Amino acid sequence: MNDRSALSSRGGTAPRSALSVPAVEVTGVWKAFDSGRISVLEGADVTVAPGEMVALWGPSGSGKSTLLHLVGGLDRADRGEIRVLGQPLASEADRVRLRRRHLGFVFQLHNLIPDLTVAENCAVPALAAGRPAAETRARIDELTEAVGIAHRRGHRVQDLSGGERQRVAICRALMNKPDVILADEPTGSLDEETANKVFELIRDLVRREGAALLVATHERRFAEACDRILRVAKGRVLPL
Ligand SMILES: Nc1ncnc2c1ncn2[C@@H]1O[C@H](COP(=O)(O)OP(=O)(O)OP(=O)(O)O)[C@@H](O)[C@H]1O
Ligand SMILES: [Mg+2]
Repeated sequence: MNDRSALSSRGGTAPRSALSVPAVEVTGVWKAFDSGRISVLEGADVTVAPGEMVALWGPSGSGKSTLLHLVGGLDRADRGEIRVLGQPLASEADRVRLRRRHLGFVFQLHNLIPDLTVAENCAVPALAAGRPAAETRARIDELTEAVGIAHRRGHRVQDLSGGERQRVAICRALMNKPDVILADEPTGSLDEETANKVFELIRDLVRREGAALLVATHERRFAEACDRILRVAKGRVLPL
């Protein structure tokens, strides 16, 4: 393992503030689609400190989702380097391990499994990481209570409202106590009141658990509630 990696220092009990490396470090990243015809990122740099909340702000099509996908190891950069917790996302094995153990995703199309219950959907990341059943049950109880859907634990996700589903997606993202949460328009499809509640839940849980958050949002008030706002435009990522 690389010397700069913080992964080995996280035994589940180590305080996250003890991490000596950035939660996310994007350096000189380029990304194009369609055989280079659509150039999206042209030397993007982003650093997110452990426990820091950073908003990605920018026009539609500027590359916010693309950047989140790259950081999450869901796609590969053409050039440049991405490190999560000091670990380069070099091989597919690295990316899978980071996704399972250290990253949580809250995306607008939340990819919940409609036929499964709230509790079963929440359990998916814990199963993938091989966590003990008793620990998983306790964590599901804790998270569903925190977001106010504990009473719906046994209900199928397909029977829930949009805001309730988004809260399930938050629980699922936080299931494995990730160090870094990546959120893409997590409130985009919700009415204003529900969007406020969902954002507050994300913020409170992220703060309580000491995770870092990188969130793409078009909602100015949510961006302003973060520690920093970064503007994504013309292929670059700069302070707003
Ligand atoms: N797989 C792909 N193939 C081709 N083009 C793509 C692909 N993914 C993204 N793009 C293009 O890359 C550009 C950036 O897209 P991206 O989804 O990152 O923007 P965004 O900033 O998230 O926009 P929005 O605010 O609308 O969500 C867009 O022009 C998009 O059409
Ligand atoms: Mg997007």
